[in-house]
Amino acid sequence: MSNNASGDTAVESAGGGSPAKQTSSDRFFRAKDIHAYYGESYIVQGVSLELNKGEILALLGRNGAGKTSALRAIARTDDPMLKQGEIWLDGQPLHNMKVHEAALSGIQLVPEDRRIIEGLTVEENIQLARVADGHGWEIEKIYGHFPRLAERRKQDGVTLSGGEQQMLAIARALSRDVKLLLLDEPYEGLAPVIVEEIEKILKEIKELGITTIIVEQNVVAALKLADKAVILDTGLVAFTGTAKEVLDSEELRHEYLMI
Ligand SMILES: Nc1ncnc2c1ncn2[C@@H]1O[C@H](COP(=O)(O)OP(=O)(O)OP(=O)(O)O)[C@@H](O)[C@H]1O
Ligand SMILES: [Mg+2]
Repeated sequence: MSNNASGDTAVESAGGGSPAKQTSSDRFFRAKDIHAYYGESYIVQGVSLELNKGEILALLGRNGAGKTSALRAIARTDDPMLKQGEIWLDGQPLHNMKVHEAALSGIQLVPEDRRIIEGLTVEENIQLARVADGHGWEIEKIYGHFPRLAERRKQDGVTLSGGEQQMLAIARALSRDVKLLLLDEPYEGLAPVIVEEIEKILKEIKELGITTIIVEQNVVAALKLADKAVILDTGLVAFTGTAKEVLDSEELRHEYLMI
């Protein structure tokens, strides 16, 4: 954390501090006016997001609004390609990094398709992720939060139910040194009781200081979990505020979220 007296933006304060530690703000995470392209297609058209450590942000918007693309740009995938803007996580400039460097710096994207590795057990899936950097949660700590995975540790990962696969995908992210968890539609296709189980886990990991951005079509569930909300519309930010403001605004929900 920065102790700079300048408050919000420290990027121009060339003071006596070490340049390596310079950060665009004292926020834990900040994406500042990011623009990203698939080839020539200009999709993420100037998105800014800010989070303090341990906060949850719901990133919402209609189908095609650019939610997945924004998450991928933040995770520094090549597709879409980030062409403008800054991304800072815990004082580190992610906009200068490739996807594997961003992952080592603490960004973990759990994509919609979950990507469980075929032919590996639950435990092997977790261990393989852990080997990648060796600084994440120990396996027993993970099982403490995911009792269903503990019971199925020897089961082939791809034979898990949808909800269990989602838990495994989150568990894998925790087995790395995750600082910012990016969840793309974690509740998709899951029964309400399983959604509740995952919500409980996300609250527990929030208490442990994990910062999360959640993209969800189940808008009400995401807003009940989240502190903050951002609504995207055609690659632009249409609203930034608290989750409660969106829950309380019929106009916002009707105009951008169709609920
Ligand atoms: N690989 C790609 N190449 C070109 N355009 C793409 C690519 N992937 C997505 N797009 C376009 O980018 C826009 C935003 O898509 P994105 O998947 O980010 O939306 P989304 O908000 O996640 O939608 P959904 O709610 O349906 O998941 C869409 O118009 C989509 O067609
Ligand atoms: Mg999407």
